[in-house]
Amino acid sequence: MKIIKGNIIFTPTYDKFEIIKDGYIILSNNKIVGVYNEIPKQYKNYELIDYKDKLIIPGMNDLHCHAPQFRNVGIAMDKELLPWLNDYTFPEESKYKDIDYGKKMYSKFVKEIYKNGTTRVAAFATIHKESTMKLMDILIDSGIGGCVGKVNMDRNSCDSLCEYTMTSINDTLDIIKRYLNKSELVKPIITPRFVPTCSEILLKNLGEIAIKYNLPVQSHLSENIGEINWVKELHPRSKFYGDVYDSYNLFGDTPTLMAHCVHLTDDEINLMKTKNVYAVHCPTSNANLGSGIMPIRKLLNNNVKIAFGSDVSGGHSFSIFKAIVYAIEFSKLIWAQNKEYDFLTLSEAFYIATKGGGSFFGNIGSFEKDYEFDALVIDDSDLNFDNYSLLERLEKFIYLGDDRHIYHRYVSGKLI
Ligand code: GUN
Ligand code: FE
Repeated sequence: MKIIKGNIIFTPTYDKFEIIKDGYIILSNNKIVGVYNEIPKQYKNYELIDYKDKLIIPGMNDLHCHAPQFRNVGIAMDKELLPWLNDYTFPEESKYKDIDYGKKMYSKFVKEIYKNGTTRVAAFATIHKESTMKLMDILIDSGIGGCVGKVNMDRNSCDSLCEYTMTSINDTLDIIKRYLNKSELVKPIITPRFVPTCSEILLKNLGEIAIKYNLPVQSHLSENIGEINWVKELHPRSKFYGDVYDSYNLFGDTPTLMAHCVHLTDDEINLMKTKNVYAVHCPTSNANLGSGIMPIRKLLNNNVKIAFGSDVSGGHSFSIFKAIVYAIEFSKLIWAQNKEYDFLTLSEAFYIATKGGGSFFGNIGSFEKDYEFDALVIDDSDLNFDNYSLLERLEKFIYLGDDRHIYHRYVSGKLI
């Protein structure tokens, strides 16, 4: 048993913050017993960690990113998706055949997400089995939780990044066998890159593997108009892009993350809702690649589950706090164009970054009873130069803060 003291802020629901000044979080092992204004009598003698005037908030969940695009973060923003992939991204990812390069870059990547307050992550690796396993080991050593996918791609890729279908399947199975039970916190995830780079035989096998091992799935969906038209050409009988994944059990038959979802049809939105498929909003990436703006309010109104992703290196920031800011700003741009959809509020965006994304991994992202304690301790003393309320302090940190304000990080009850 342990007690954590400080200014506690979290969002049990979309619409409001729960704020406890000088409050106490009681932990039993890695889980939350409760949040209190005073320590209940029966817990008085437990170890107390006093964070004084600091803010204690749930950790950030990054549900879509590409670890092997680390070198390209902050460069190569002058093309839209398909030429960007061919000219910048695939050549960089090809380098991960070299395990030493993978180890070097993946260590930098994990350090960067750690710095930025990500406590759970869903990451794409590359097609390469050995460096994918390196990334998993580095993540396990860091204490950050989440899942890592060996990427599958057996068509429409450059020679250096195109797999034989059977190799793709066998390497995926090999990683699953080695990592299914290696770590409580880091798990494999089935990762067809996107429809254009995966043959139907590959998709069919990946769907069967996901179901057999009860593994989650992550991919890209309806990000860019050129991409969507290409999927239509490749699969003329499919009703919409997501229908291709669905016909191979890769669309919500096990927990599923679909990144971007900028240009969805109404039927696609309906199917995502029915099958509990997460739409992962990656606002900075959508801007950098000129993809468009995800209609986040429309998805929320339709009860689609939403999470945030950094999508580095399409996105240029590792910080999910920045995803919160950009998501709010972009929703205001849509609102300004025509007033059909209300813009996103701070509590809604904070919920998406914490409890919304965290729900993919279990009871994560809130400080309610039985939630695993994933948390950030924020020292905002240099930003708090006048009598700001606790909510104003959080907002100021989200908009102006960075990794230097993150004092401590907890994942599943453990200081990392
Ligand atoms: N679609 C397929 N691959 C990628 C990728 O690496 N980044 C983004 N943003 N979209 C993709
Ligand atoms: Fe992506």
